[in-house]
Amino acid sequence: MKETLIVTINGSETNEELNKLLIKPSEILAAGGTVAFPTETVYGLGASALSEEAVNSIYMAKGRPSDNPLIVHIANVESLNLLVSEVKPYAKLLMAALWPGPITFIFSKKPEISSKVCGGLDTIAVRMPAHKVALELIRMSKKPIAAPSANLSGKPSPTSGRAVIDDMSGRVDCIIVGENSEVGLESTVLDVTGDIPMILRPGKVTRERIVELVGACEMDVAISGDKIDDSGVAKSPGMKYKHYAPEADMEVFVGSSSDIVRSLYEKTRNILDDPKTKVGIMTFLEEAMVIDNMLRGHDCLNGRYEWIDVGSSKEQTDYAGKLFENLRTFDALGCTHILARGVDEKGLGVAIMNRLKKASDGKVTRI
Ligand code: TXA
Ligand code: MG
Repeated sequence: MKETLIVTINGSETNEELNKLLIKPSEILAAGGTVAFPTETVYGLGASALSEEAVNSIYMAKGRPSDNPLIVHIANVESLNLLVSEVKPYAKLLMAALWPGPITFIFSKKPEISSKVCGGLDTIAVRMPAHKVALELIRMSKKPIAAPSANLSGKPSPTSGRAVIDDMSGRVDCIIVGENSEVGLESTVLDVTGDIPMILRPGKVTRERIVELVGACEMDVAISGDKIDDSGVAKSPGMKYKHYAPEADMEVFVGSSSDIVRSLYEKTRNILDDPKTKVGIMTFLEEAMVIDNMLRGHDCLNGRYEWIDVGSSKEQTDYAGKLFENLRTFDALGCTHILARGVDEKGLGVAIMNRLKKASDGKVTRI
């Protein structure tokens, strides 16, 4: 067990106060230690990308296979020169428009960058986050920072300081606890090594937005379909591993509001016939309230189910923001089953459905 320094940042600090709070964490990073920190997507677990030993300690802390490459985080575009050997003109346009922000680009890497960071590939993933704490921490450490999501391997990505402490306390040198991550889903991963950009992992920056900027964008075939294709050599090796998964058995339902209400109600009752079960229901607020009302009509079901809403159906951003945190909460509440509402695969809905499919291992029912 390591002694983990906890640094709390509440967001109301002046720049000067923030700098002061980040002195120790940035020194830890500069010296090759591990620091978990907030970003606008999910919390990251950082260490110097230039030290093999530091990178190894990330894999150790996460319990992650070392063929799964990491994203390198930078605080200014000049740092790219250290890392990548080629930037295509269209990639420059995308970087100018979308960085800092929730998108990671895959470039050809410089030969001197350790293949440990890149899981043995000849490409490298780079992101400039838009979070003030993350940017300042990277800048002060004076190093590019390799950082996967700060969860134990296989668990949902952490979007709150609490979730990071649960997974990483005693395993890393420092945890910076900030506000909850605004986006709530990991960054879009976009391969920009080819003639046309290709999305390897959907996120907040949508395909539509990339097409708008550079005229074309493909989607890796491995991420379409309900059962995410894990066979063969996935282009984004992270997609091979069980990811984002709660302990509970999860199922996803897609349909109109009235169909969702009826199906989730019936399914919950079916599952609860077995006295050892407890159901977690995750759906839009309007629907959850109706389902709760129907279930409350049965006294014997008292305490056998929990519902957590994902905001109003009008705002997909709320669903993205609360998704991972809700999965963790259901596990903490001892739910054996999770029934989640799916969404239309448009815009941000593509990323939401991608994570729901992964978490449920492809158990999606279209009503
Ligand atoms: O939002 C995010 O991206 C967060 C925050 C902390 O920045 N990070 C994150 O890292 O989600 P991680 O390690 O959990 O996911 C990185 C993804 C994996 O799916 C990995 O396979 C892919 O990026 N990746 C990394 N390097 C790659 C490469 N050279 N080629 C293809 N995919 C790569
Ligand atoms: Mg991850």
